[in-house]
Amino acid sequence: MTAVVIVGSQWGDEGKGKMTDYLSQKADVVVRSQGGNNAGHSIVFEGKKYALRLVPSGIFGAHKQAVIGNGVVINPKALLQEIHYLSGNGIDTTGLRISNRAHITMPYHIALDQYEEEAKGANAVGTTKRGIGPTYMDKAARIGIRMCDLLEHDTFAAKLKHNLALKNKIITKVYGKEPLQFDEIFNEYIGYANELRKYVTDTSLLVNNALDADKKVLFEGAQGTMLDLDEGTYPYVTSSNPAAGGAATGAGVGPNKLQTIVGICKAYCTRVGSGPFPTELHDEIGDSIREKGNEYGVVTHRPRRIGWFDSVAMRHARRADGMTWLSLNLLDVLSGFKTVKICKAYELDGKKIDYYPASLSELDRCKPIYEEMPGWDEDITKVKKFEDLPKNAQNYLHRIEELAQTKLATVSVGPDRDQTIILHDPWKDAE
Ligand code: GDP
Ligand code: IMO
Ligand code: MG
Repeated sequence: MTAVVIVGSQWGDEGKGKMTDYLSQKADVVVRSQGGNNAGHSIVFEGKKYALRLVPSGIFGAHKQAVIGNGVVINPKALLQEIHYLSGNGIDTTGLRISNRAHITMPYHIALDQYEEEAKGANAVGTTKRGIGPTYMDKAARIGIRMCDLLEHDTFAAKLKHNLALKNKIITKVYGKEPLQFDEIFNEYIGYANELRKYVTDTSLLVNNALDADKKVLFEGAQGTMLDLDEGTYPYVTSSNPAAGGAATGAGVGPNKLQTIVGICKAYCTRVGSGPFPTELHDEIGDSIREKGNEYGVVTHRPRRIGWFDSVAMRHARRADGMTWLSLNLLDVLSGFKTVKICKAYELDGKKIDYYPASLSELDRCKPIYEEMPGWDEDITKVKKFEDLPKNAQNYLHRIEELAQTKLATVSVGPDRDQTIILHDPWKDAE
């Protein structure tokens, strides 16, 4: 097997972009398999920071193929902006490939995302308002427009006509808003189709051929397991399957090809948007972590909610993902605290539990049971070896390994590609 899967193990923004970029240095193909431009992945190398939403973070290796798989939903305007942004920065994008089966985000999806959120009022999910949920709704309802449809003018016109009539009824009659115009959308999207055509192919074939030829394929997850439509904190989730299984369906490969699953986590937890977050901090420690970790969204610039490391949620993710390794990022952000805490179990109605409840009302009543450990003061941003970390930081990491029931493959001490401590190279499993 020559596949490595990167999966977010918390609520997104764990540093998947950084680890994809790092591991892609040895990869031949890098594939995104779900989500859309709700994702914001930051990559830092040679003193420059890049933010990607749809293009896989493996694009920075010129000889590689960077694949947008069938499970991704594509806003063509956003994708083209990203391609132009990369080219403008001297990054070669000729290796980009886009699945002909990927679904397209249309202007009515973006409008409906906003109207649905407004209608939910206090129960709003806090989506990124990029039309992700409505695009996946149409896919499941079997009225979605795929990349291959967009490339055929007549097919696209017919599908758009049908969908727009339906969506405009909802937009005007349910939400009382202005209808969208066919000609405007059609002309705009045909322009995008012409620009994107050269990248479009059957990417399942491409990825399977690469695996059959023993090439190294890296699967780049978006969002995180706790935002998974099935395993996350429903309904405060995204509309795809960020858990590891989504990598197989979203790239068109058999699940038996995916055996090395690297769960990416932070040294603490963050969440953007609404929904349960048992270890959330509402105090100056949370504020301090937010400022030190620059915890503001890449896509929406919203301040991220901050909490202590939650090993109950982590064990839930480990199970749902079949995680074989853990990659822990942003350890440097925890330097300078007298003590650090890890949630090891919850108390629910006076009883200790060690599973993540499905019921939101139960989750609301869960109180974290913490283990408190001595912190460390040292600046660790230049540390290259695990043994050179302060003893208390090492103890913290070992305790996380125990409670997460997963060994650490890497520890990251800064955003740069070089600020990465390697304990185990996941590609070794794949050889
Ligand atoms: P992703 O969505 O999982 O790719 O994560 P994001 O890129 O949205 O958010 C992670 C943020 O943490 C980015 O700003 C990264 O540059 C930054 N980052 C990643 N690893 C580290 C680290 O070890 N230390 C610090 N200080 N920042 C990091
Ligand atoms: P990356 O890949 C963090 C969250 C939104 C909201 C919920 C649903 O950068 O880790 P959506 O727009 O998907 O319908 O919003 O999911 N969300 C993310 N949070 N990181 C992400 O991506 C996210 N993508 C979606 O904030 O709570
Ligand atoms: Mg992000």
